[in-house]
Amino acid sequence: MKLSRKEKSAYWMPYTDNRWFKSNPKLLESAKGMYYKTSDGKKILDGVAGLWCVNAGHCRSRIVNAVKAQVEKMDYGLSFQMGHKLAFEFAEKLVNILPNEINHTFFSNSGSEAVDSALKVALAYFKAKGQHSKTKFIGRSRGYHGSGFGGTSVGGIIANRSQFGNLLNGVIHLPHTHMPEKNSFSWGQPKYGIEKAEALNEIIDFHGKDTIAAVIVEPIAGSTGVLVPPLGYLEKLREICSKNDILLIFDEVITGFGRVGDSFASKRFKVTPDIMTLAKGITNATIPMGAIGVKSEIYDTIYKKNKDKIELFHGYTYSGHPIACAAGIATLEVYEEEKLFERSKSLEKYFGKAAHSLSKLNVVKDVRNFGLVAGIELAERQKEPKTLGRDVYEECFNNGLMVRFTGNTIAISPPLIITKKQIDKIFSTLTYAIKKVF
Ligand SMILES: Cc1ncc(COP(=O)(O)O)c(C=O)c1O
Repeated sequence: MKLSRKEKSAYWMPYTDNRWFKSNPKLLESAKGMYYKTSDGKKILDGVAGLWCVNAGHCRSRIVNAVKAQVEKMDYGLSFQMGHKLAFEFAEKLVNILPNEINHTFFSNSGSEAVDSALKVALAYFKAKGQHSKTKFIGRSRGYHGSGFGGTSVGGIIANRSQFGNLLNGVIHLPHTHMPEKNSFSWGQPKYGIEKAEALNEIIDFHGKDTIAAVIVEPIAGSTGVLVPPLGYLEKLREICSKNDILLIFDEVITGFGRVGDSFASKRFKVTPDIMTLAKGITNATIPMGAIGVKSEIYDTIYKKNKDKIELFHGYTYSGHPIACAAGIATLEVYEEEKLFERSKSLEKYFGKAAHSLSKLNVVKDVRNFGLVAGIELAERQKEPKTLGRDVYEECFNNGLMVRFTGNTIAISPPLIITKKQIDKIFSTLTYAIKKVF
């Protein structure tokens, strides 16, 4: 299938080198289970669950049927001063699988909106408590929190920030935890790097705890190339935040819904944040949706302070969209019935071993793994170094495998329904592609 020149110019693609893509477009046409089919009939094994989101595999009939039934029954129902049962039902089901202390949820339509919602709730909380000066946010270098102004500001990927001027005021960044000189080829959580969390104490000393509302981090940074938290690091952040009356936000947009060998990274690492952001796997990506989970102390404080009026002046036309809620409920049922979170844990060892088998290649500088996520970092290539990740990605695609690349790191995060044979296929194709491209 060919794209016309007009079609190509009409569609400005997100986070894409449009010139490169449009010079040789790759078009997906259908999907089922672990596979896509391209417009020219090629089968592609999905090694990244869409974009870290199709955790139960593609076009699951239970979810598709729930969406079909809901779109025929009520296509849309507003959520401002009005409700529909599905949103309440889904909120309750969601809260039931979140960490115990997180008892309230607020719906958005994406991870970026979830991040903005989390930051705004943190501000509203301190305002409700009369702590008006607590307005600063602390993000982390190499963090990714979506594309809104809030998320871009607390995010720490330079290319994502540098086109957009000053962004939000009052944002400070922690150092990232990537320490290849000490931690290369770690299995799971790296040993070294807890001291990177101590930097938070320095920031607090410098700015004053009375000026800081929240710290936001991804428990495992995905988009920046899979950075697994060093042992003790998240616990240390939790301890410092609690001691200084600063909220801890975990951005679980990627790590949620079974990706890391448990329902959520907070549960796997046994560190409970004050607010969590969710999206992607929340509906198995069938319908766009995001959410935040909030501790009762935050919800109650905002609720009680604002009597006889709207408690939180925030929301979206599509918050709690009935079709998204229907998809979300069906998705949770699939996760539960097929025990996919447990499956992710049970495959972790096999998957990790397969990922680490690439360390025998000279050009592989580092392999990082946790749950069903792996990052394979490649050495710089002499010839055309800047296009290395992309060339590996293309070679994989040409050989029937979808991977992600960010700089020189290839990320793998397959649907949780993957079989061992398919894991082997991913890493043998990747090995072949890396050898070919170098
Ligand atoms: C950790 C994290 N937060 C937020 C987002 C943004 O989500 P969305 O693209 O749905 O806005 C992403 C997307 O990849 C993400 O990885």
